[in-house]
Parts: sequence; C-alpha cells; structure tokens
Amino acid sequence: MKKNDYILPSINDARRRSKDSVDTVTFSLDEKYINLGKDKKYFIITHGCQANQRDSETMAGLLDAMGYISTDEDKKADVIIINTCAVRQGAEEKVLGEVGALKRLKTNNPDLIICIAGCMAQEEDTVKLIMEKYRQVDIIFGTHNITSLPKLLYEVNTTKQRKVEVFSKMGEIVESVPATRFMSHKAWVNIMYGCDKFCTYCIVPYTRGKERSRDKNDIIFEVEQLVKQGYKEVCLLGQNVNAYGKDLGDDYGFADLLNDVAKTSIPRIRFMTSHPWDFNDKMIEAIKNNKNIMPYIHLPIQSGNSEVLRRMNRRYTREEYFELFDKLKKELPGFAFSTDIIVGFPNESDEAFEDTLSAVKHCEYDNAFTFIYSKRSGTPAANFEDTIDQKTKEERLQRLNELVAYYANKNNQKYQDQIVEVLVDGLSKRNSNVYSGYTPENKLVNFTGDNIEVGQIVKVKITKVLSFSLNGEMVKV
Ligand code: SAH
Ligand code: SF4
Ligand code: F3S
Repeated sequence: MKKNDYILPSINDARRRSKDSVDTVTFSLDEKYINLGKDKKYFIITHGCQANQRDSETMAGLLDAMGYISTDEDKKADVIIINTCAVRQGAEEKVLGEVGALKRLKTNNPDLIICIAGCMAQEEDTVKLIMEKYRQVDIIFGTHNITSLPKLLYEVNTTKQRKVEVFSKMGEIVESVPATRFMSHKAWVNIMYGCDKFCTYCIVPYTRGKERSRDKNDIIFEVEQLVKQGYKEVCLLGQNVNAYGKDLGDDYGFADLLNDVAKTSIPRIRFMTSHPWDFNDKMIEAIKNNKNIMPYIHLPIQSGNSEVLRRMNRRYTREEYFELFDKLKKELPGFAFSTDIIVGFPNESDEAFEDTLSAVKHCEYDNAFTFIYSKRSGTPAANFEDTIDQKTKEERLQRLNELVAYYANKNNQKYQDQIVEVLVDGLSKRNSNVYSGYTPENKLVNFTGDNIEVGQIVKVKITKVLSFSLNGEMVKV
C-alpha cells in the first residue's frame, strides 16, 4: 500500500456537533459475504466499557452470519479482532502490547487477518502508528463502521491490501444488525449512542460521536424478544442514559422508557451510566414504582471539589451533587450506590483532594471505580497546566481506595446472616466448586450449592462479609 493511502480519523471533525436529525437505517447483509467465513474461525478480544462489550456482540453476530465460527484460542483463528478502549493511557498500552504479540501468529499463519476496532481506532495518532509500525494489522475500523466489517473482510481477502475505515462523525443509527450475545441470561441493550457532555478530560465524545437515541419501539421490541428467549436481566446502556430522548424532540424521556421497559416483565432492569446533570424527579418516581428496576444506582461524582468539577466541565457543584445524592438516598431506601472518581486532575490541590475524600465520607458509597487522571490528546484538559507529580497522585489513589474499601465493608455488614436473591452467572472465577452471581443491589456473591444453573435466581444465606463481595450458601425456601 502506498504511504497514507487511507483516510485518517480526525478529532477536529469528531468535536463538531450538528443539529441535523439522525436517520435510522435497517441493516441487511449482502449475499456475496455470506459464505466468506466457511470453515474459518474468529477470535475477539474486548477492552473497555459495556458499550464495547455490546459492540463485540455485534461483530460476532456479523461474523456468524458470514459463516465464521468462534474459537476461544487465538492460535486457531483466521480472523482476530481487538476491540479497543481509549479512555486511559494504560488501556492503550495494553492493546499495543497485544498487537505486538500477535505478530508471532501471523508468521505461522500468513492468511490470518488482524483487525483493530473500537475507540482507539477513532484516534488519528493511533491509526498512523498502527499503519506505520504494526504491519501485521490488516483492518482498522471505527466505532461508526462496525457494519462495514463484512465488506472490509471481503476486500482484504480479494485485494490482499490493508484497509482503514473510520468515520469521525456518525450520521445514522443502524437497526436489525445481527448480534451474538455472549451471555444467555443477562443482556446489554443500547438505548443511545455517543456523548455530548464533553467533560474536559474525556475522549469518549470524540470516539463515540454525537448523542443519539434509538427509537423507543426498537428498544422495547428488543427487550420483549429477550424476555421470550428467557433472559433474566437487561442493562440499558448509554454514556448518559438520563439524556435519553432529548435529541428526538418529543416529550418521551428516560423515565417513560424505564416505565415501558418495566412493563415487559423482564425480571431485572439495570442502567448505565446516569449523569447527575439530567437526573430528574420523574426518573426517581419510575425507579421507585417498578419493582423490576434494580435497587442500585451508579452516579459518577469524579471529584468532590467544585472548582475541579468546574474545570472538568461536569456541570454541577459539590453541593448540587449532594443535593441529588441525598434526595436519591431518602427517596430510594435500601438502594446501593456507586461512583467513579478521578484523582490527580491537572493542578488538583491537596485541599481539592481532601474535598473528594470528604465527599466519599458524605456519600458512603457501596463501591467506587477510582482512576488516576490520564492525559488524552485532543481533549481540553490535555492543555491544562499540571504541577502535581505522579507519586502524589499515586498516594492519593491509595488513600482514596482505603476509604472506599472502608465504606464498602461498612455497607456490606448488614448482609451478614441475611438471605439474598442471586442471579447466577456461573462458577466463580477463583474457585471451581463455588458459584457466583449478583444481588439486586449489585453485590457480588460467591456461594456453594448443588444443581445450580446459569440464569437461575436462587436464595443464598450470607455467611461472610468482605468489602467487595459476600460469601454464602444456597438455601431452599
Ligand atoms: N459516561 C460515563 C463515564 C464513561 S468513562 C460518565 O459520565 O459517568 C468511565 C470513567 O472513566 C469516567 O467516569 C471517569 O471516571 C473515567 N475517565 C474518563 N476519562 C478519564 C481520563 N482521561 N483519565 C482518568 N479517568 C478517566
Ligand atoms: Fe466522558 Fe463526561 Fe461523556 Fe461521561 S459524560 S462519557 S465522562 S464526556
Ligand atoms: Fe473505552 Fe470507548 Fe468505552 S474509550 S470506556 S471503550 S466508550
């Protein structure tokens, strides 16, 4: 391939938001791709958030429709896809290490096709780097180009040339794309794509494009199908689920969607992620009134200091977050709460960090996902002055994690000797005689019992409480 014989993605293009309405189109697989995968195998590695998990299921669905079959050994695969995450530097380095290691497989099997997908594929510098230094990669396709996978595989097979297809903006929502779900009892359901919040540290609005909601009928139909197939849980996905419907221009919002999804009688409904900004009373009512909406809310705070929050462009102050949090706690008794926190945001002072610790003390979260700030090129915060050294940031993370663990443990104490309902995921990763699953409050439970199947909801008596999980034994009642 000639140098730069491909179109690079552009952060500048990805930054733009147009008022144009988004079309919904229906996918169909061109017949010429249908037998391309005959006698061939694929292997998918997924990094990042639930949006990526769900995208990998779509990639698997497309490959299955083309006749490929999945394998769980990379060395047996004819097609390997790495679905990447760009949210922090660490995630990116891991992927590049993986791509490097795949070179060996390509030497053994020159017909192997290696693909890079997901959020890293949306980054100009990453695409350049891969095209120049990682020549074992055959296809790079972006988050808006998943349905092009059959076409790209076909082209690489026929032309033997490397292919890059990454759109920086998305103009449509594609429905009826095949998907092979990785679980048979819990399902991810996209309700919206993209993000328009532009928090100054975050790459997601650039890698996922503009906020766009799926038609409510498509979402409800998907959940109804899942109920028919025996699914026990759906997780409604979006970067800011509370903003659902705002782009559709009618009054139907996330609260209405929650009420309608609840009517499908799916036993468990979860949603991710709710941004504090758009959380309104109607949503609280919907959550309160539907017993199949699970008593667990993830409400990212990011920082407990109003000045840092302002520089993060989070659109709320410490006081406003507390006002919402306290209301949720009061209105939704028995609910579990978790959050996301970034330490070491550019020039975060000691006092600002102390405010984050005191916010954790105020909220007494059941769990928190904590991160050291990672500079993302192209985002506003990448240009902010930062005089805080890495060691200080690491110490802060350590102190924060200790406090988070303290409250997680404190919250879990109430489960000692209690009987909880657990949706069974399967055998525990650590111990093969032990099953694992989650309570309605999203507490991980490892437990013993007989004749247990994935997808059953069983009663478990808690015998031991840990900070981030519970141990127990199944009881028959
Ligand atoms: N849409 C979700 C978050 C998606 S990213 C929300 O707004 O809550 C998941 C988490 O990664 C974020 O909540 C944030 O805590 C963290 N994160 C995002 N960008 C980051 C960065 N540049 N450095 C460190 N953590 C980051
Ligand atoms: Fe990133 Fe903020 Fe959007 Fe969440 S709301 S995806 S943190 S920009
Ligand atoms: Fe990562 Fe992209 Fe999700 S950056 S967190 S995979 S939206």
